[in-house]
Amino acid sequence: MEFSEVIDRRKTSRQWTDRNVDFEVIKRIIGAGMKAPSWDHYRNWQFIVLHTKEEKENAFGYAKQVVKRFDSGRYENRKLNLAQEMYAYAMPLQYTMLVECPYVIVPLFKCSKLNAEWVSKLNPLTTAWCVAENIMLAVTNEGLGYSLRIPLNKEHDVVLKQLGVPQGWMTPCFIGIGYPKEDEPLPEQYDSSPEGHLHMGAW
Ligand SMILES: Cc1cc2nc3c(=O)[nH]c(=O)nc-3n(C[C@H](O)[C@H](O)[C@H](O)COP(=O)(O)O)c2cc1C
Repeated sequence: MEFSEVIDRRKTSRQWTDRNVDFEVIKRIIGAGMKAPSWDHYRNWQFIVLHTKEEKENAFGYAKQVVKRFDSGRYENRKLNLAQEMYAYAMPLQYTMLVECPYVIVPLFKCSKLNAEWVSKLNPLTTAWCVAENIMLAVTNEGLGYSLRIPLNKEHDVVLKQLGVPQGWMTPCFIGIGYPKEDEPLPEQYDSSPEGHLHMGAW
């Protein structure tokens, strides 16, 4: 696929067909993640790959509870902005978008505690996001789709414990991979043109 096509086609998916994905493709996708730009020459990322239904259900019980507690009534019968519309659509799917796709990748980076005093202190996390973005683009390039969940607060520790991850490792996100349903609704996006976002020389 042309690079510009990958950029244009990339989107977050949350509903899947039953079609399986070849594990060799998953390995290529993780290989693309491994080629991400890295801070401090770091390249010791680890990846947990979940495939069976049991593995995914075991990992994402917290997201299931988040969905149960979500009050969709708050979003009914009132005017919503685009972010609220996306939220109202995406929230009920936070569990199934991970459990119902063939594979979930959990990227891991070594870090005991995040320090957000300065942006540079967040380099371990930022680098892991470069890995995640490479994975998302590689998924798109393979003609597949991905779902993305950022663990909500202590969900991070709960999931990593379920997965037996040793102390001192963190994840930026969970990435589900599969063939998206063709008729999945596409939440409307804000305009992505750079007009109105540029400041030449200084703000
Ligand atoms: C930092 C970050 C956190 C996100 N968290 C979630 C999430 O927890 N659940 C979800 O369904 N989508 C999540 N998304 C996906 C966004 O909702 C999505 O990227 C946005 O609506 C734009 O749509 P698009 O990716 O289809 O272009 C996240 C995206 C980013 C970059």
